[in-house]
Amino acid sequence: MVSSSSRAIEIAPGIHWVGAFDSDLRSFDLILRTANGTSYNAYTVRGETGVAVIDTVKESFAGDFFARLESVCNYGEITTVVVNHLEPDHSGALPELLRRAPQAEVCLSIRAPLMLKALLRSAETMPRGFRTVTTGDSVDLGGRTLAFLHTPYLHWPDTQCTYLGELGILFSGDVFGCHFCDPRLFNDRVGDFRFSFEYYYGHIMRPFRTHVAKALDLIEPLDLSIVAPAHGPVLRHGPRDYIKRYRELATARLINEAGGEKTLLVFYLSAYGNTRRMADAVRAGAETVDGLRVSLYDLEGVEPSSFVDLIEEADGFALGSPTINGDGVKPVWDLLSSLTAIGVTGKLGAAFGSYGWSGEAVEMIEHRLRGLKFRVPVSGLKVKLAPTDAELTQCRDFGRQLAETLTRPVSLND
Ligand SMILES: Cc1cc2nc3c(=O)[nH]c(=O)nc-3n(C[C@H](O)[C@H](O)[C@H](O)COP(=O)(O)O)c2cc1C
Ligand SMILES: [Fe+2]
Ligand SMILES: [Fe+2]
Repeated sequence: MVSSSSRAIEIAPGIHWVGAFDSDLRSFDLILRTANGTSYNAYTVRGETGVAVIDTVKESFAGDFFARLESVCNYGEITTVVVNHLEPDHSGALPELLRRAPQAEVCLSIRAPLMLKALLRSAETMPRGFRTVTTGDSVDLGGRTLAFLHTPYLHWPDTQCTYLGELGILFSGDVFGCHFCDPRLFNDRVGDFRFSFEYYYGHIMRPFRTHVAKALDLIEPLDLSIVAPAHGPVLRHGPRDYIKRYRELATARLINEAGGEKTLLVFYLSAYGNTRRMADAVRAGAETVDGLRVSLYDLEGVEPSSFVDLIEEADGFALGSPTINGDGVKPVWDLLSSLTAIGVTGKLGAAFGSYGWSGEAVEMIEHRLRGLKFRVPVSGLKVKLAPTDAELTQCRDFGRQLAETLTRPVSLND
């Protein structure tokens, strides 16, 4: 007997929400906080010849999921299980679902099988029948067709979206989702969740904004009546507004007076003015090159995280730090650790700084820049204590080289 609170919720004729509400959750994936919990949204689609289950829930909520699932179908009717995303908040109940519905064919993206194997770590629980799918592939359930959209890195390599064309429903996985728990489920009935939608985008999707833009190219042309994400409200009122908002969020947001010019940001910290003099010279050298807008900032004057928006839209970034107690200084590391919120792959990075005797900071910063996937084509520059005129000339050369690297046509050797 299924209690009314464990009933499936119909979101369209023959389409049910069979997920779970987790109202006590206050932090997610270590990087997100949640104000009232979240939901793990799973769905069923009934056709004339079969039933598809789209995603599951976190393992500890499997009981709710199976109770809701059993209220809308028998396990023997399930012909298809769609895995839009393998993260355990959606795949936790998958092994048990496949034990109960062993005949189901699992549809997942090209990148997913190897990841699934690494997640399950047991050949026994690997699905026996799976099919890798991509954009253009579909599954026919009899009068209901699920079409797949290959949308990798939203926010794992395996992610995909699934589109039910006959009813205009997009099962979008984490995309368009948010951590907001409200059993009224539909966006026109729940409380105000706008803060959570933006916050989720900022922490989960923003590092992948070029992938978001590519996914939107696939999603925008679709006829849509409902967007059914894997967390938070089901978006049946104005679903296109959320798509539009993603497009805005994934598009450069700062006004750039430099027009088509490249941008180089030079940051520094300096206790006694030595690294500062180096930074001034780096800027002066960079400014001799046309087609580049150069900016200089003292990190001591501002919260490092304030610069994240600027760095997201800059082409290059040079960081100057003295060596203090065998390390770069804390604001430098704070700034660098803030950059996980954005995509920096392929941007130009560089390091410089003054030191007294051991001078570790520059190499350590370069190492971290490479780790973050900046390209670091110009070797870092170190100066012992106060820079001489000759060393300031080297700093200007260093700035000019950075500028030339940014403004010349991209070479594969960079
Ligand atoms: C508290 C303190 C610790 C320092 N530790 C180191 C160190 O471990 N290795 C080193 O090469 N220089 C060290 N230095 C020297 C500075 O790197 C050097 O004075 C440098 O020129 C400072 O550059 P700035 O004027 O840009 O701050 C230290 C300086 C201070 C004040
Ligand atoms: Fe996820
Ligand atoms: Fe998720």
